[in-house]
Amino acid sequence: MKTQAQTVSIAVVGSGYVGLVAAACFAEIGHRVICVDNDESKVRMLQAGGVPIHEEHLPELLSRHRGDRLEFTTDLRAATQAAEAIFIAVGTPQSQTGSADLSYVDAVASEIARSIDSYKVIVEKSTVPVYTNEWIRRVIERNGVSKELFDVTSNPEFLREGTAVVDFLHADRIVLGTATERAGNLLKSIYHPLTCGDYYNVPGSVPGPRESNDPPPILLTSTKAAEIIKHASNAFLATKISFINAVANVCEAAGADIEEVARGIGMDSRIGPKFLRAGVGYGGSCFPKDVAAFRNVAEQVGVDFGLLREVEKINDEQKQRFFQKIRSALWTFRAKKIGVLGLAFKGGTDDVRESPALDIVKRLVAEGCIVTAYDPAAADRCKELIPPGPCMRYVDELYAAAQDADALLILNDWEEFAELDLSKLHYTLRYPIVIDGRNLYDPETMTKNGFTYLSVGRPGLSQPIDPVAAFFVPRRRDDTRA
Ligand code: UGA
Repeated sequence: MKTQAQTVSIAVVGSGYVGLVAAACFAEIGHRVICVDNDESKVRMLQAGGVPIHEEHLPELLSRHRGDRLEFTTDLRAATQAAEAIFIAVGTPQSQTGSADLSYVDAVASEIARSIDSYKVIVEKSTVPVYTNEWIRRVIERNGVSKELFDVTSNPEFLREGTAVVDFLHADRIVLGTATERAGNLLKSIYHPLTCGDYYNVPGSVPGPRESNDPPPILLTSTKAAEIIKHASNAFLATKISFINAVANVCEAAGADIEEVARGIGMDSRIGPKFLRAGVGYGGSCFPKDVAAFRNVAEQVGVDFGLLREVEKINDEQKQRFFQKIRSALWTFRAKKIGVLGLAFKGGTDDVRESPALDIVKRLVAEGCIVTAYDPAAADRCKELIPPGPCMRYVDELYAAAQDADALLILNDWEEFAELDLSKLHYTLRYPIVIDGRNLYDPETMTKNGFTYLSVGRPGLSQPIDPVAAFFVPRRRDDTRA
């Protein structure tokens, strides 16, 4: 029976953000890992040393373990047969009704079933609704596999894009949902290098908040509880964001500063300071999908979770409000040159799925603006959705986005966006108007530096912006245009 640090043979099915990071991190903590994907070109790229996503520490982990403890293949059958534990990390996109589309999970479970030749622990890593565990078990049994040959468990992942490797290796908690001791022990032995603290003493280990004397705790639960923990965690975090955005709107109307208010709320240890940043609303591949899916799960079990509808509504309105703010600053949109900093759904990632930035850029282009956008990592992905053209330009340098623009928008929170050279920016813009959807600057500093500065939930913003006044801000000295 495995409970101590031992090398475990693992298959990870799916090489998206969760699957690829999990595979690299399992190899990093000493296991033999085969990462499976049915996308042949992606597998070839990974085999050849490519890294398909922008994620800190991932390139170094892949190059450290590729070809040694970490392999890539399209052969799910062989990977299943070689593995003791099979982690399912395929996509669970949103269906038309808002529920999670589990067809990829279903297909993978059937294929695993057809390949099982010895005892396997099958682990849900994807975010799935409660009862999925049960469905996977039924699918495998229907394919003629006897009960003794497998267990289905749930080990939800809480990593964030952009900090995924650190989140994985320095987790707040490791949730293991399992019905049998045998499967629980195998899962515990997989995470043992982290939970016993040894990993943090290994030379070259990825640094982060955990140390050998403060390793991540394990929480053993039922499989259903583990499934609900994942959905409820994301839904709660999204609720926190919508809550602070609604408070920001109250601040804006009342003439208070949301940053002061958020600090004051967050200092209550029962509330905590994290996820209280007001902005343009949450996006990404998880919160929008998971809030809808959890609401749907609740409905299916007869619970009206109306709170989550409100969370979604506030989030939609937040983008709309920000767009109105831009309009109030610019008066008209047609042929206005707008500089945009940030396209990904947040800083630190190249992911543009459900990005509030993209939503705002699309609306600006539709209204006839000429947008010049810069994002350190997401431009290529964005080009697939909004192709470059006369009204949409992509640039490789931050200040090039601001060049001669009528206003600059800050739409996500890459660190470099918070460190702008304000005099250079002032000089570069046609009109020194900055509309900041992430509150990266102090309004007073911006005003002192000659900017018309609008942000989210801070004083003065309830007043309609005087468009005439905004355009009377002195231009840079060498500006000879009419
Ligand atoms: C989220 C969760 O944070 C992870 O724990 C979870 O594992 C992941 O979803 C998932 O289910 O896979 P992620 O989507 O990568 O991670 O990004 P977050 O950092 O949570 O940000 C989500 C959105 O909320 C972003 O648009 C971000 O800008 C926004 N946000 C976040 C705010 O507007 N304010 C905040 O205070 C925090």
